Amino acid sequence: NSPRPGVLARYGALLDLPPHTIPVTLQEGDTPLIPMPRLAEELGGGFELFVKFEGMNPTGSFKDRGMTVAISEAFGRGARSVICASTGNTAASAAAYAARAGMRAVVIIPEGKVAAGKLAGAVAYGAEVIQIEGSFDDALSLVVQISQHHPIALVNSLNPYRLEGQKTAAFEICDQLGTAPDWLCLPVGNAGNITSYWMGFRQYHTLKGTGLPRILGVQAAGSAPLVLGHPVEHPETVATAIRIGKPARGEQALEAAEQSQGRIIAVTDEEILHMQRRLAASGVWVEPASAAGLAGLARQLREGQLELSELRGKRVVGICTGHGLKDPEIIAHSMPAPRRLPARLAALEDALLGAA
Ligand code: F0G
Repeated sequence: NSPRPGVLARYGALLDLPPHTIPVTLQEGDTPLIPMPRLAEELGGGFELFVKFEGMNPTGSFKDRGMTVAISEAFGRGARSVICASTGNTAASAAAYAARAGMRAVVIIPEGKVAAGKLAGAVAYGAEVIQIEGSFDDALSLVVQISQHHPIALVNSLNPYRLEGQKTAAFEICDQLGTAPDWLCLPVGNAGNITSYWMGFRQYHTLKGTGLPRILGVQAAGSAPLVLGHPVEHPETVATAIRIGKPARGEQALEAAEQSQGRIIAVTDEEILHMQRRLAASGVWVEPASAAGLAGLARQLREGQLELSELRGKRVVGICTGHGLKDPEIIAHSMPAPRRLPARLAALEDALLGAA
């Protein structure tokens, strides 16, 4: 009985799956829920803060939870190839699980920046990578059409089995904390994940009375269709994972925020990068998009939309969706070149302790 058997083995009974499903797993899930007392203190204190570090999944992002399920269903019904549009993480995950099942994976990425660690992953796992002269939204529209006309399975989060798998993160948080948290903060791009969390928390609450969180969904200011109330033609943000102008599950994201008595807000790229540094200062290095959720919490507290008194004694979970290693360039850009020294003790002493 492996302590980390994968989300299908652990929670499969709670997922709505057809009987033909054949598990294809990399033992994803069971990610750490890390207490962040120092960051909580910096944000004003008086509440408990945790990071659910989804970057600890096999391909470095939360996508693996949904992908194991989507690929297991597709493989089980005899599909031989899968396709997705992606800002990078879905691509790497689809590539890995398709490889695991011996299936062909085609990933369509947008023009512009896909973080190096994601592209490298997709290539390493053997996917066919195609970059289109268009946005993520264009790519998604193309893969939907292709999958309607050809025998190639769509594994974007329009695929309902992706959502089934991603619900398991909500189950895990309830199992880790004993109940649902009071607030859940997470980044929102194509809006599959916020939809899955809300489904998962509701289902667990119905089964086990674990309670429901209020959900704070956070978009990047340059890619904030759900905040603006209309699609964004040319989305921009340093958080390339969520550079999306027409979220496929936008309606459901708005419903999740409303039904949970939460909200969807936007934060600037500066706020995102600042939160990325603050998390790293506590030892948790995440990719920029992953810092958006907690950047949103910081903004709400700063602007008084959320009062510290409302959080007193409460538990807040920030979802950090992807690992910092996915996007090393963001750090490298602002990094001074390392100091060079002769390989001598005296030189090192001088440098570290100052000349006598
Ligand atoms: N965080 C990261 C690191 C992501 O890669 C994504 C989405 C999100 C958050 C947002 O999740 O789309 O369910 O609202 N990445 C997709 C991709 C779009 O192609 O990898 P969402």
